Amino acid sequence: MQFQTRTNTCGELREKNIGENVVLNGWVDTRRDLGGLIFIDLRDRYGITQIVFEPGFNAEAHSAAANLRNEFVISIEGKVRKRPEGTENPAIATGNVDVMVNKLVILNEAKTPPFPIKDEVDTSEDIRLKYRYLDLRRPAIQKNILMRHKMYQLVRQYFDKNNFVEVETPVLMKSTPEGARDYLVPSRLHKGKFYALPQSPQQYKQLLMVSGLDRYFQIVKCFRDEDLRADRQPEFTQIDVEMSFIDQKDIFEIVEGLMKILFKEIWNKDLPLIPKLTFDEAMEKYGSDKPDLRFDLEMTTLNHVFEKTEFKVFKDSINNYGIISGLLAPGCGEYTRNQLDVLTDFVKKLGAGGLIWMRVKELAAGVELEAPIAKFLSDEEKKNIITSLKAKPGDLLFILTGAKLKTLSLMGQLRLEMARRLELIKPDAEPKLLWVTDFPLFEWDEQTKRFYAMHHPFTSPRLEDVQYMQADPARVKARAYDLVLNGSEIAGGSIRIHDAVLQAKMFKALGISDDEAEYKFGFLMNAFKFGAPPHGGIAFGFDRMAMIFAGENSIREVIAFPKTASAISLMDDAPSTVDENQLKELHIKIR
Ligand code: AMO
Repeated sequence: MQFQTRTNTCGELREKNIGENVVLNGWVDTRRDLGGLIFIDLRDRYGITQIVFEPGFNAEAHSAAANLRNEFVISIEGKVRKRPEGTENPAIATGNVDVMVNKLVILNEAKTPPFPIKDEVDTSEDIRLKYRYLDLRRPAIQKNILMRHKMYQLVRQYFDKNNFVEVETPVLMKSTPEGARDYLVPSRLHKGKFYALPQSPQQYKQLLMVSGLDRYFQIVKCFRDEDLRADRQPEFTQIDVEMSFIDQKDIFEIVEGLMKILFKEIWNKDLPLIPKLTFDEAMEKYGSDKPDLRFDLEMTTLNHVFEKTEFKVFKDSINNYGIISGLLAPGCGEYTRNQLDVLTDFVKKLGAGGLIWMRVKELAAGVELEAPIAKFLSDEEKKNIITSLKAKPGDLLFILTGAKLKTLSLMGQLRLEMARRLELIKPDAEPKLLWVTDFPLFEWDEQTKRFYAMHHPFTSPRLEDVQYMQADPARVKARAYDLVLNGSEIAGGSIRIHDAVLQAKMFKALGISDDEAEYKFGFLMNAFKFGAPPHGGIAFGFDRMAMIFAGENSIREVIAFPKTASAISLMDDAPSTVDENQLKELHIKIR
């Protein structure tokens, strides 16, 4: 029988269509046989329409429908009718009507799918990824993909309207590791040489500023061979942005303009005022450079309480420029020893030496701290802890101490763990955006005993800090900023160095020799000699942003064909072995 193209989609028919003759194409979603009548829910991207096979209406179509199974692809022709009183389905947009079928064409049969094509599936993610094309048939996932599509369009319209030029940059580039490991591509024509896939188009976008493009953006794939987590993929998408003749505030303005549109168009929310925290403030209060502000639970630095302490642990810490950080867990004073042991193990596994805890008790003598270490503390110290942390009877206090950043970060993780235990993040909590600014320019690496650029080597120091670059690198702050949404870093960028002398200082501070700088970044340094404008930029993690806007917890839910946590594509089995000839051509031997 001949295939007829559709007159309508499966999401389209309403009461105004009653009486029309229509053709629908789609997949069999469900099938119900009711005393001679066969009801099929027909599905496509646009929705679901109920179609009815009735022997009295068309016997031929009805008997053909006996063969229909889930996921068969069919074409039907029929008449739209008002559903009989009481059988309407308000859960679907087409629920007031159905279609009486007088012609059925089976376009394709289907094997029984490995999981039902429904929003809620009780199947492992591995199976879903192996059959991703079926998984993508599920309306819940299609919704994410469609939302992502909408985000692309909004982003492109916004940047175009604001005079940004979209430029594609190469995918095969020179290896200039930026922090993560590169994905390398061996060259056939140049034996022993490799291209790298870009970790980001960082150098290219800076070159485009030298070229005078002034405002650039690109929605671009980036590749990083790093340890994966729920919010990381080996290949991911950035909205990459660079601007000339600007300062930090101009970048913030452009970014906030985009966020305003996304908030409105995706969430139908007005953009809240975006607070700014410096890196130091964020670390001290929240123990993270991407704090989740959807709940309070602030940490408090207690060094001032223990300036004259006799308690050796705190005394040593203060003498070694360490930090004593406290966290109040409201109403947790009755935690059992077992619960406290579990939390102690939690921080120990992350690298803490131990966890100090204290119960706040109401005793006849007043509010008291009950804890194994209480006997080492003076009454004055105990009183000051209680006031500093604003503790009340029934509360529990935690204290961690040691090297500053490490201790703060451990406390930050305990803060998140307590928020989880206390269920402080409500599903309907208002989204919380913030800027984190003034990052350290350098990061010390204990393993290699050297400083690395925290952002990348082209990030400008704060000009007032340039004087410390050699003598006290740890003190230098960068003109770098991150945008954080609900505890996730969704964008990061910086004002760049555009001056060859300062860039040379930066390489020197990083221990990169002139030769190495020339070999790795010579093309960029050379370009800067031909008149580089002051410039800066930012890049959004598009997938991460889409994940949050879609209300998902995993980045894989908003990527059509994602890789697993071990960087495998279960559907096509990449990475895979290749044949000997391919390797030979590339001058490669597997050992
Ligand atoms: P950065 O490395 O901070 O900056 O990356 C920008 C944003 O990209 C997202 N992101 C990732 N998303 C998914 N999977 C990953 N593996 C992954 N890695 C990063 C994050 C991050 O905020 N060239 C600079 C930007 C600049 O300076 O303009 C850069 O790439 O959301």
